[in-house]
Amino acid sequence: MKNRRILVTSALPNANGPIHLGHLVEHIQTDIWVRFQKILGNHCVYVCADDAHGTATMLRAEELGTVPEKLIEKVRDEHSKDFRAFHIEHDNYYSTHSIENESLASFFFRRLSDADQIRTEAVRQFFDPKEKMFLADRYIIGSCPRCKEKNQYGDNCESCGATYEATDLIDPISKISGEKPTLKESEHLFFKLSNFTEFLKIWTRSGVLSEPIANKLNEWLKEGLKDWDISRDGPYFGFEIPGYPSKYFYVWLDAPIGYIAAFQNFCEKNDLDYQEYWREESECEVHHFIGKDIINFHALFWPAILNCAGYRTPTKIHVHGFLTVNGTKMSKSRGTFITAQEYLDHLDPEFLRYYCASKLNASAEDIDFNLDDFVQKVNSDLVGKFVNIASRCSKFIEKEFNYRLSEIPSNRLHDETIAKEGEIRQFFEKADYAGAIREIMSLASKANQFIDKKKPWVLIKEETNRAEVQQICSIGLDIFRILTIFLKPILPNLAESAEAFLGTDSQTWSDIGEPIHDKTINQFHPLLKRIDSKTANKIVRESEDKIETKEPRTKKSISIDDFTKIDLRVARVIGATEVEGADKLLKLDLDAGNETRSVFSGIKSAYRPKELKDRLVVLVANLAPRQMKFGVSEGMVLAASDEQGNVYLIEPPPNSFPGMKIS
Ligand code: MSP
Ligand code: ZN
Repeated sequence: MKNRRILVTSALPNANGPIHLGHLVEHIQTDIWVRFQKILGNHCVYVCADDAHGTATMLRAEELGTVPEKLIEKVRDEHSKDFRAFHIEHDNYYSTHSIENESLASFFFRRLSDADQIRTEAVRQFFDPKEKMFLADRYIIGSCPRCKEKNQYGDNCESCGATYEATDLIDPISKISGEKPTLKESEHLFFKLSNFTEFLKIWTRSGVLSEPIANKLNEWLKEGLKDWDISRDGPYFGFEIPGYPSKYFYVWLDAPIGYIAAFQNFCEKNDLDYQEYWREESECEVHHFIGKDIINFHALFWPAILNCAGYRTPTKIHVHGFLTVNGTKMSKSRGTFITAQEYLDHLDPEFLRYYCASKLNASAEDIDFNLDDFVQKVNSDLVGKFVNIASRCSKFIEKEFNYRLSEIPSNRLHDETIAKEGEIRQFFEKADYAGAIREIMSLASKANQFIDKKKPWVLIKEETNRAEVQQICSIGLDIFRILTIFLKPILPNLAESAEAFLGTDSQTWSDIGEPIHDKTINQFHPLLKRIDSKTANKIVRESEDKIETKEPRTKKSISIDDFTKIDLRVARVIGATEVEGADKLLKLDLDAGNETRSVFSGIKSAYRPKELKDRLVVLVANLAPRQMKFGVSEGMVLAASDEQGNVYLIEPPPNSFPGMKIS
């Protein structure tokens, strides 16, 4: 069979936030598929990028007091680092904010215009008079027109589920400035998607999508598609549309084109021709892996654009469901919004790879990350079944046979394990990893049963049985080797350690039927440690700083005038006491020069009341008094804190005195 040439992508993560477990599900799913193709010997390239553009990136940069270009560079570094930690091997991790993408986006726009598939239309939209910008639905908040619930976004109500136009909201305000928005008209560019309805009816049924998803899309296609607004007014972080000053491509126009750009950038460095993959009738394959929330963009807009521009459409779109944590949506307030970093602080990345794989099948059902199930599955499958084979057999090979394996005699289970190759390969190809794991673990159980039945620990007691013991353990270890190849796309690191133990070269799929025998292996070290559920549960923790607010945001950069409004004073601690019922607070009585103040301060975890007496601190003296659960706090004491929750009081030099102004 001729080797396939395959380009694979994962959806491009937004550049305005960290990588979280939801992203990881997708990249793990993709990475397993890519590694599998490579192990089979196919030519496979995996590209991805950060999705850099859009209002969210622009606002996030402003909030952090930086420019979008700086922000996206930093975020891309962090994202790449996170993915690498989970052994996700993108051949190129690029950015949509690239020269290649800018020129491709313009090129596509020209093709669409030349084909007469672009039109303009005036659109009336909310406008923030203070920030001088148009407001997308998620930047407008007000009360739901149906149930009157406060603080709802401009497109739907999270409380009663109503969907509406932003202009229907009661008392709308801009989430960005807190101002009341006005209505303003502006000209937008539309891609005539409606003309592609018939094309898409056929295309979505051509085998690129699973049947349930094609059915879902058909509900929209039946009614006919609306034209698609592809422009946004400045200020916007994106590519300006050629010939339309201060109008930008909507982020969802240049994002999928970013797949091609990332690949082009890879090809230029690797002496490949990207056009060869993207021209109509190309023999190469293109596979997109995405989540179910972005199906329209990939299975309607994207193929229509590619088709209109004279490019090939994807071979397959693999759609996965959403990750939930302990049965509920990932949520910051519940502490279940888990970032890659938070996971890595406590657990081995390969455990997540294994658990995701065990839950991923070819459907778009949601995937629950249940912590108890996770602990149980990793311990019982990987430690209890798979690694156990090696641990049991190596004991005899090491001690009794000086690390030497025998010839492998003909054996039914050994044959059966090799014969499963075809079925397991099919499961991987369909991205039904749950199915593959079911088969692999069933083989691992059988291998353990084989050892149980043969009882080498009994046999070894008779000198005449020695040869048989060596053979049993050699069969066991070769089955372990085969299972390692099957698991290698999922657990690349563990597979590498196993290969080092067996003293083999890096194994590929074609080695499955090539037993190792009559050779020396290395000393066995436990390849994995069991997880305990206490450690696993650490990744879900309630933490206040994770709670998302819907309040109008404030910009992080302030003017010097803003700063001088803050009256900072040196103060001395006269008394410090614990506050009954408060876990984090101490009550501080302060000498602030010519007055005394009582302040509640969240420093209990770091300081004992006794050691605070007579210490100098920095007081925000003109902070409005705040009524707290435990009393009134008359000001605030400055402290530094890090992400681990360590707290350090800021201390003025010892020769300063209460009442001194700090500026
Ligand atoms: N930037 C767009 C994609 C552009 S592709 C041309 C985007 N970014 S995203 O960061 O919001 O999501 C990236 C991918 O992560 C999407 O496929 C999305 O479905 C997936 N996930 C985000 N949260 C998820 C879960 N909780 N669970 C599983 N996947 C989820 O969309
Ligand atoms: Zn409502």
